[in-house]
Amino acid sequence: MSYFLEENDFEVFNYIQQELDRQNTHLEMIASENFTFPSVMEAMGSILTNKYAEGYPYKRYYGGCEFVDKIEELAINRAKKLFGCEFANVQPHSGSQANGAVYSALLKPYDKILGMDLSHGGHLTHGAKVSITGQMYQSFSYGVELDGWINYDKVEEIAKVVKPNILVCGFSAYSRVLDFKRLSEIAKNVGAILMADIAHVAGLVVAGEYPNPFPYADIVTTTTHKTLRGPRGGLILTNNEEYAKKIDKAVFPGMQGGPLMHVIAGKAVGFMENLKPTWKEYAKAVKLNAKTLAEVLMQRGYKVVSDGTDNHLVLLSLLDKEFSGKDADLALGNAGITVNKNAVPGEIRSPFVTSGVRIGSPALSARGFKEKEFVIVANKIADVLDDIKNTQKQVLIKSELKELAIKFPIYTKAIF
Ligand SMILES: Cc1ncc(COP(=O)(O)O)c(C=O)c1O
Repeated sequence: MSYFLEENDFEVFNYIQQELDRQNTHLEMIASENFTFPSVMEAMGSILTNKYAEGYPYKRYYGGCEFVDKIEELAINRAKKLFGCEFANVQPHSGSQANGAVYSALLKPYDKILGMDLSHGGHLTHGAKVSITGQMYQSFSYGVELDGWINYDKVEEIAKVVKPNILVCGFSAYSRVLDFKRLSEIAKNVGAILMADIAHVAGLVVAGEYPNPFPYADIVTTTTHKTLRGPRGGLILTNNEEYAKKIDKAVFPGMQGGPLMHVIAGKAVGFMENLKPTWKEYAKAVKLNAKTLAEVLMQRGYKVVSDGTDNHLVLLSLLDKEFSGKDADLALGNAGITVNKNAVPGEIRSPFVTSGVRIGSPALSARGFKEKEFVIVANKIADVLDDIKNTQKQVLIKSELKELAIKFPIYTKAIF
């Protein structure tokens, strides 16, 4: 009897093969996506998925955990080393779960969260009203100025009025460096805990290419699958022992049951990659490539929010154009470039339409694209947008970019 997917479920197998082809032949420029390492996928596809291990290393509710204990311990130790902190919880199934666990550890219902507005680049879990974080807690927000920069004096003013229990910093769409020191002073002045959600920039942080929120933040959360290039998942870090104990209880048994040991193994393997000297080269390339992208787009007459970028993403403002973010997203998609529509400062359109697109460099940098290729891609983006209704041109560019993409293959097989 065969246990292999191809023979047992050809429909799913076939769709995975098609997705492999899509990933290899399209240009992935969604800022939150990346290509993880085959070694990470090997760990994630391993027999560890069979194991229940409720609890924490050496304190489990199940027998037979002697090997998964070692794996989780490795993941914890590597995470602590990477971020230079004392406590790590590697069990959150996602970034949202990580943020939810921090709130549930440290807040009572109706306590106050102050975070970056979703439409200004914050994340749903920073208190957006459609998220449980905006329903279970009283949530307030700060934003960016029309020039795309955070004005810390304004954040301070709002914090003084709101007096949040937790001040959340971090973003899904902000292309500048955060002043963690200033944010910690603001938090301290109003008696708030500072939580930094570095989901987007964690891979740059561990390479020293973006400031580390420690020692300023009380708690740091992140996903492991964006710039970190590990498996899909969440991570919580702190130097405060009391918070660490509360967070552990909030993750399990508070919010989750059995940890995903195969994913935790994937996290350990991903962290090992992040600790290698080659990681610094990758992170440097991610930043340089994003900068190149922003510069070429500006040279071609496009408005980049905040006039550039310090990280892995470029926010293109289309407020001065007749077409929307949705139109741009669609046209670029037709040309084989995957991005996402995004609200921009001074937004006039609905969140489903928007006046911007968010474009990221992590995935193309992972497949080996350098400045030279980013100049080509940025020009193709401008070519598509300059003539947005020209679908024939989009088809032509798609085939040109496919040729470029296949020179930089990312995976030779879909299943590890
Ligand atoms: C800043 C930030 N925090 C948290 C998350 C949530 O991560 P997940 O999708 O793993 O729940 C995201 C995802 O986009 C994010 O950008």
